[in-house]
Amino acid sequence: MSTSATLSLRVGRVRQEAQGIRRYELLADGGALPRFEAGAHLDLHLQDGLKRSYSICNAPSETNRYEIAVLDDPASRGGSRFVHQALHEGVQLTASVPRNNFPLVEQAPHTLMIAGGIGITPFRAMVHRLQILGQAWTLHYCARTRQHAAFVEELQQLAASGQGQLHLHFDLEPGGAPLDIAQQIASADENTHLYCCGPGSMLDAFERACSERPPTRVHRERFAAATPVPSIGKTFEIVLARQGRTLKVLPNKSILETVLEAGIDVPYSCFEGVCGACETEVLEGCIQHRDTLLSEDERAAGDRMMICCSTATSPSLVLDL
Ligand code: FES
Repeated sequence: MSTSATLSLRVGRVRQEAQGIRRYELLADGGALPRFEAGAHLDLHLQDGLKRSYSICNAPSETNRYEIAVLDDPASRGGSRFVHQALHEGVQLTASVPRNNFPLVEQAPHTLMIAGGIGITPFRAMVHRLQILGQAWTLHYCARTRQHAAFVEELQQLAASGQGQLHLHFDLEPGGAPLDIAQQIASADENTHLYCCGPGSMLDAFERACSERPPTRVHRERFAAATPVPSIGKTFEIVLARQGRTLKVLPNKSILETVLEAGIDVPYSCFEGVCGACETEVLEGCIQHRDTLLSEDERAAGDRMMICCSTATSPSLVLDL
């Protein structure tokens, strides 16, 4: 199925999962649901062109529904607030097909996961998958208090019934303290695959702690760009090979904005290089990458880019659009 394909979904059961966090069951509104892998996410089409990405957090073995968990974030740019206010049982909505920027390496000898707050969502799916595979895992789950932590009993049961270890860190509770990420990474076996999803400060600490580890064993997922994406600042040309059109990308416009304003429908969600929805094949030209998704090897290959934030260093780019 094309990644620009969309799904018609219907909201099923909605549950208050923790303070500020609701769990939403999403069901097929006719037809079957495509399967998903642990770590995958959906882009929900919310209102007026607003799209937001949410990790699918249920067990990948479940084929009849997706589950997402959404934090009603006071700093919301509109997405999580809209979800909490408008998504009730029976509401219909459109979503992308599942896409995975945070895949689980299933045959790793050990998996160490560090979750901060709502960053627990991809790890719930990963833990279910690792349990089925009989693989060893360790999950450090950091939240302000027990009331702010989702899925705790379920994770405890999974840890007790398989080869998993769950460590809870509630830093605002009496005697609580932030997780020492550097120490956890330093004590992990060199073959361990290391994962982190959480707020930017946690991911920055994780990346510093993993700087000496092989990049193929370090995996992270950001909710937002590490640093604000700077404006593009110069004019260049894009050739849309399939459309047979050439467009000028003006200073302070992204390629994505330029393409959308020209009436060309392309997938997008985050506008800041973290979701992967706008990934586009590049047929010619040189790219300045500004996303947080592509690895060094993928960047060096120079054959794809996130058109919401990355730009050209050559006078023109030929895109597979
Ligand atoms: S729209 Fe999310 S990476 Fe471009």
